[in-house]
Amino acid sequence: MIILDNVSKTYDYQVALSNISLTVEKGEMAFVTGPSGAGKTTLFKLLYLAEKPDEGTLTIAGFNAADLKDSAIPYLRRNIGVVFQDFKLLNNKTVYDNIALALRIRGIVEREIKERVHSVLKMVNLRHKADSYPLTLSGGEQQRITIARSIVGEPTVMLADEPTGNLDEENEKEIMKIFKHINNKGTTILIATHNRALFENTAKRVFLLEGGRLVKGEEK
Ligand SMILES: Nc1ncnc2c1ncn2[C@@H]1O[C@H](COP(=O)(O)OP(=O)(O)O)[C@@H](O)[C@H]1O
Ligand SMILES: [Mg+2]
Repeated sequence: MIILDNVSKTYDYQVALSNISLTVEKGEMAFVTGPSGAGKTTLFKLLYLAEKPDEGTLTIAGFNAADLKDSAIPYLRRNIGVVFQDFKLLNNKTVYDNIALALRIRGIVEREIKERVHSVLKMVNLRHKADSYPLTLSGGEQQRITIARSIVGEPTVMLADEPTGNLDEENEKEIMKIFKHINNKGTTILIATHNRALFENTAKRVFLLEGGRLVKGEEK
């Protein structure tokens, strides 16, 4: 589902990723970890085509990212659900409208939008918050809405960059439970985190980055 082959990325003179090769299988849930500055976010930006690699090839959800025309990027992105720090909720729109937005852009009829929004809200246990505004919700609730928004388009792959970053342990557990549920339904998930607690007691694969190099996890 995700294949990186010898991918490198340098910003100006700063090497962010160096010769990364890794594969995430269809239906897998895997983690990317490493200290701050290791290259985790850069890796996710490459997968979302927000940045281009300097070298190497990258395949995600059946698309060869290196060969993709810019006009095809929106189609690829429909197959990817993202929970990124810079993809915040819109504070002047209700929870319902925040989640519905991506479906409206695709021209889906409102009746179906309503069904799908309520179904993802139910999944994150926040159906009663549909008419609330983001700033009236707790940090954990806002993050659950962000997750609901990321999956309402039924992506085949989900990318979550530090999804529990600012949350306490209880919310962290709740978020991980939601990810497991999404993964059990068949979505491939890659999670970047510097928090070992998220994967320590799981049998999931962990890719360890240090200084832009993959130092552990390339083998299955
Ligand atoms: N837009 C950018 N311009 C220049 N350097 C950057 C940029 N984004 C990230 N970097 C650098 O690339 C390296 C990897 O950063 P990043 O991918 O954000 O790591 P992580 O998410 O693991 O903390 C760091 O040295 C960082 O300072
Ligand atoms: Mg980061």
